[in-house]
Amino acid sequence: MDTPLRSWADDRPVASPFARPSGTAGRLAGRFMRWTNRQDDLLDVLDVQPGDTVLEVGYGPGRLVRLLADRTEAAVIRGVDPSPEMRHAAARANRGAVRTGRVVLDLGTADHTGLAEESTDRVVSVNNVGIWPDLEAGLRELHRVVRPGGAVVIAWHGGTSPGPLTRRLRLPDDKLDRIEHALRTLFTDVTRSDLRSLVAFKAVR
Ligand SMILES: C[S@@+](CC[C@H](N)C(=O)[O-])C[C@H]1O[C@@H](n2cnc3c(N)ncnc32)[C@H](O)[C@@H]1O
Repeated sequence: MDTPLRSWADDRPVASPFARPSGTAGRLAGRFMRWTNRQDDLLDVLDVQPGDTVLEVGYGPGRLVRLLADRTEAAVIRGVDPSPEMRHAAARANRGAVRTGRVVLDLGTADHTGLAEESTDRVVSVNNVGIWPDLEAGLRELHRVVRPGGAVVIAWHGGTSPGPLTRRLRLPDDKLDRIEHALRTLFTDVTRSDLRSLVAFKAVR
């Protein structure tokens, strides 16, 4: 049996098929996320430039990877996620770009991305920072892999018009403050944006 998933944001073990999708429930959760998780407005915050390398942490079913491939001129879009089921789903959703090598999807986590130091221009994480086991270790790793002048965007459920489910998943203010504070200790410039259904912190190295 898998060891229970513990997060920095909650004392109780995380018991949701959305947190680390596996088996049939995980595959269904992946489908649900692909239908419902709209992340178009995050592209403006991320501001990918032609030729950039982008890393998505916790890509899930690969909807944002697809948006990045279709709507930006990024040279390479890499992803890490600990779930083999999500890797399979995201690879299917991006099969053309995976075939050409523009999209590269690996298993990994926020605190162990497997990427080289200063090897990426943009990093983005959507709806998984709240389930990382160790917030500070994850952010230190993302700071390590982004190049100086590059940016990390950390987004979580919230924003200006969250649906009922998103509203239930919002983090309390003290947890959002902890994310912002941890980013400020590592990065030079940190800004918060409230998007439609996400609160996003952008940190420039
Ligand atoms: C709620 S889903 C969000 C998926 C996708 N970002 C989206 O918004 O549709 C959370 C994802 O984070 C992944 N995940 C869980 N723990 C993680 C960690 N420590 N580091 C990176 N990703 C993680 C899960 O496997 C899952 O695919």
